[in-house]
Amino acid sequence: MVEKSFVMMKPDAVSRRLMGKILSRFEEKGLKIVAIKLLQISKALAEEHYGEHKEKPFFNSLIDYITSAPSLAMVIEGDDAISVIRKIVGATNPKEADLGTIRGDYAMDMGRNIIHASDAPESAKREIALFFNEDEVIDYDISDNSWIYE
Ligand SMILES: Nc1ncnc2c1ncn2[C@@H]1O[C@H](COP(=O)(O)OP(=O)(O)O)[C@@H](O)[C@H]1O
Ligand SMILES: [Mg+2]
Repeated sequence: MVEKSFVMMKPDAVSRRLMGKILSRFEEKGLKIVAIKLLQISKALAEEHYGEHKEKPFFNSLIDYITSAPSLAMVIEGDDAISVIRKIVGATNPKEADLGTIRGDYAMDMGRNIIHASDAPESAKREIALFFNEDEVIDYDISDNSWIYE
């Protein structure tokens, strides 16, 4: 089923100039970028986005991290995009993430794990609406579609 996922390169990815390399991984897989925006996340937006972690001991440092420099927010579309992207991103702890995943290849610390991706259809919907207006998500075709999907 065609899905949209909310994906965000965190401040460390932007500040380490890894945006191009990371974006390429999604493009080369055959996924489609349907929205993209560089923004510095406010404290209020960060707290809302990570609301489910409010009671966790790492919550305050997570908010500091995510608001510390610009992030690159995206909506990425494709067949089963939510689970496919979580696989490309890798485990939350970069030391345990498989090599070949983004976190496994580029990160070391849980608190500097360079990328976010939605974990389920409900969270994807909520997160997309939090970061993008409807008219910022573009519906378009790419002509290589029949070479990506049977
Ligand atoms: N134990 C932890 N210590 C420090 N930061 C953490 C820890 N667990 C999670 N985080 C941070 O909070 C973010 C959200 O956590 P979670 O939703 O569990 O992971 P994921 O980003 O893989 O969905 C993580 O990406 C990471 O940046
Ligand atoms: Mg999560």
